[in-house]
Amino acid sequence: MKKYLIEHEWSIIEEGFDPNNHEVSESVFSIGNGHMGQRANFEETYTGASLQGSYMAGVYYPDKTRVGWWKNGYPEYFAKVLNSTNWIGLKIVIDGEELDLYQTKVSEFVRELNMKEGYLQRTFKAELQDGKQLKVQATRFVSIVDKEVGALKYEITPLNFNGTLTTTSYLDGDIKNEDANYDEKFWDPVNTWIKDNRMSVTLKTKKLDFHFCSTVETQIFSNGTKLELTGTAKEAIKYASLVYDVPLTEGESITIYKYAANVTNRDYDTDQLETVSSTVLDLAVSKGFDQLKQEQAKGWANKWLDSDIVIEGDVAAQQGIRFNIFQLNQTYTGEDERLNIGPKGFTGEKYGGSTYWDTEAYCLPFYLATADQKIARNLLVYRHNHLEKAKENARKLGFEKGALYPMVTMNGEECHNEWEITFEEIHRNGAIAYAIYNYVNYTGDKSYLGEYGIEVLAEISRFWEERVNYVPAKDVYMILGVTGPNEYDNNIDNNWYTNRIASWTLEYTIEVLDYLKKSDSVLYQKWIDKLELKDEEVNQWKDIIKKMYYPIDDERNVFLQQDNFLNKELIPVAELDKKHLPLNQNWSWDRILRSCFIKQADVLQGLYFLNHEFDLDTIKRNFDFYEPMTVHESSLSPCVHSILACQLGYKDKAYEMYLRTARLDLDNYNNDTEDGCHTTSMAGTWMSVVQGFGGMKIKDNRLYLNPFIPGEWQSFSFKVVFRGARLLVQVDQEKVTIINETTTSVDLSVYNNQTQLDGKATVEIAL
Ligand code: BGC
Repeated sequence: MKKYLIEHEWSIIEEGFDPNNHEVSESVFSIGNGHMGQRANFEETYTGASLQGSYMAGVYYPDKTRVGWWKNGYPEYFAKVLNSTNWIGLKIVIDGEELDLYQTKVSEFVRELNMKEGYLQRTFKAELQDGKQLKVQATRFVSIVDKEVGALKYEITPLNFNGTLTTTSYLDGDIKNEDANYDEKFWDPVNTWIKDNRMSVTLKTKKLDFHFCSTVETQIFSNGTKLELTGTAKEAIKYASLVYDVPLTEGESITIYKYAANVTNRDYDTDQLETVSSTVLDLAVSKGFDQLKQEQAKGWANKWLDSDIVIEGDVAAQQGIRFNIFQLNQTYTGEDERLNIGPKGFTGEKYGGSTYWDTEAYCLPFYLATADQKIARNLLVYRHNHLEKAKENARKLGFEKGALYPMVTMNGEECHNEWEITFEEIHRNGAIAYAIYNYVNYTGDKSYLGEYGIEVLAEISRFWEERVNYVPAKDVYMILGVTGPNEYDNNIDNNWYTNRIASWTLEYTIEVLDYLKKSDSVLYQKWIDKLELKDEEVNQWKDIIKKMYYPIDDERNVFLQQDNFLNKELIPVAELDKKHLPLNQNWSWDRILRSCFIKQADVLQGLYFLNHEFDLDTIKRNFDFYEPMTVHESSLSPCVHSILACQLGYKDKAYEMYLRTARLDLDNYNNDTEDGCHTTSMAGTWMSVVQGFGGMKIKDNRLYLNPFIPGEWQSFSFKVVFRGARLLVQVDQEKVTIINETTTSVDLSVYNNQTQLDGKATVEIAL
C-alpha cells in the first residue's frame, strides 16, 4: 500500500514527480471511451520504467499458450488485448537537448485526471543541463462523443531563453505487448503515408486479420496563430513522423496539437479504413481542440447525471467512488454488444483484456442501475452469442451435452491457462445463469427469457446434469474436483458454493420453463423442440435438486467451503505476522493451498447472490466463521464482505471493507496497480455503496432500500434507474430522502415500509 495521490472530490492529482510511482500513475491516470483507451504515458520521451500501452476494444491476439497445451482439452492460446499504435508520441528537443523526465530536472510537476470532464493534464517546469528553463502543459483525452477521436494539446513556454524547438510528432506502430509469450511482435505493416501535416499507419495482426489504422494531424501554433510549417517526413516500417523546427522566444508559448482518428476493421471494411480514418480526422480537426474538449465535458456530465455518487464529509471516500465509476464508464459503454469488460479495462495488459465471470457477478448490477436497460441486456446477449462456443468447450472436455462457458474469453473460446481454473472453476457457469435472473428481477423484462435466456439456462443446466456425480451409497449428488471462487483451495470436492449455484441454476431453469409454458405456449413449445428437451431430463434435474449434497459443519452450523475444510488448521488472519501478507507474494503456492486462508468470498458469495434464501442468523454464523480467515487477495472480495457486513449491522467492518475496495488502486493496496487498475472490482465498490450502505434489493418488482450511513460521513447520495424512473437517494445522519426525478411512479419499500413513490414526488424517512 502506498498513498501519494492528493485527495480531491473530482480529480486524481499527483504532485511532484517520483519515477518510482510512475508506472502506478500510468495505470491510475489512464483514459478511455469504451472504443479505445491508453495508459497515462508521457507524450515526450521517457527513458525510465514505463509500460507503454494504447488499446483498441475488441482487438486481440491469440498468443500460443506456453504451458499445458499438450493436455487434452487445454486452450491453445491466451487472447491478449493488443498494444496498438502509439499516437501521442512527441519528441521534444531544445537546442539539441532532449526533454526526458527521467533525466531532466523537473519541478512543479502536477498530473491531474479530471473525472468530471474526462481529460488528463500534466504541468511541470523543466531545467535543461545548460540552465534553460521551460514550462509545459499537456492535456489529452479520447472523446466520449466521437469514439474514434483522440486529441492532445502540448504547450511549451521557454522561461529564460530564446532558442529552437525541434519536435518530432510520430505514430509508432512498431510496438510490443510486454506479456507476449514468445517475445514476438503481433502486428504486421500494411501501409504508411505522410502528406502535409498528416500521417497514417495501418497495421494488421499476424493472426486473425484485425486491421487498425491510425491517422494523425499535427498543428503548431505560436501565441494563438497557426504556423505554416512544413515538417520533414520520415517513414519506417510501421512508423511515420514529421519533424518541425520552431523558433522559441522567451515567455511566448508554442502549442502543438495532435488529432488522431483510430479505426479498425471490426467496424468498417478493411479496404476502407484509410478513407474512413481521414474522414473522421477531418471532422475532429474542423471542430478543433477546444470544441472537442467542451463536447467531452458535456458527454461526461451526461454520464455523471445517471451514475454519480456523492459522499459528503469524507473526501477520500468521495474520490474513491468517483474514480471507480469513472473507470467503469471509460471501459464499457454498452454500445457494442460484441464487447465486454476486461478486468483491467484499458489500463494494462494483464488478464488479456478478456471477459471473466467478473462481468456477470460484479459488473452487471452497476450497468443495470445506472444506464439504459439495453446496456445490461447487451452483456447478456454477449454470452448468448457465445453459446455455441460454450457447447464446443464442453464437448472438448468430454461432456456429451450442455455448455461450459469459458473462464476467460475474447470470442467465446476458452483461453485460461491454469488447469485448476480452466477445467475446475466451473462455478462461472452459475454466475452466467444468475445474471439472467438478476437482469429479469431488476428490469422486469421477462421477454429476454423467451428470446434468449432459456436457451442459455437449459444448456448450462445440462452441463450441471452431466457434471454431478451420483453416489448410490448415500443417495446424493456430489460435484467432485472443482475450484470454487476461493482460488486458494484447488481440486476440492463439494465446494458448497458450486453445489448450491449448480442446483440453483436447475431450479431457476425449471421455473423459467414453467413461466414460458404458462405465458406463451407456442414459444414454450418452440424451445422444447429446439432444445429437444424431454420430461425425463427435467425430472433428472428435479432429482439433482432434491438430492444435492451440501457439506455442513453441524457443530458450528455453517456451510462448509468444501468437504475437507475442517481438516485444515483454522487460524484467523489477524494472528498471522503481517510480514506474510500478501500471501501470494510471500508464500509458495503449496503452502497457500494447504492453509485455511481464503482469497475471496466463496461460501459468502453464495450468501450474497442467494441472499433471499437465508435468514440473518445463517448469514451471521457463516460471516463470523469465514471473514476472519479471508485475506481478500482478490480485488473482488472486499465488496461482498462490505455488503454482507452492512446487512449484519457490522458498521466498522463494512466501512473498512468499503475503503479497501474504493481506494484499492488509488492507494495500491495489493501492490500491483502498475500492471493496470482492477476495473471489474470497481463495480463491486459501487455495489458496496448502493447495495451495502444503501441496502438496495429488488424483490417482487419492488425496490427495497435499507440505508445506513457510516459515522465518518455527513451524507451520501446515489442514483438508480429502476423500471423507467430515476431515483435520487440521499442519506444523512438523520434521515433518508428519496426523490423521484422522473414522471414514472415506483413501488418502493424503505426499512420494510411499502409505499408508492409517484413521479416527481419526494419521500423523507427518519433513519
Ligand atoms: C480472481 C477471479 C477473477 C480474476 C479476474 C482472480 O484473481 O480470483 O475470481 O475472475 O481474478 O478478475
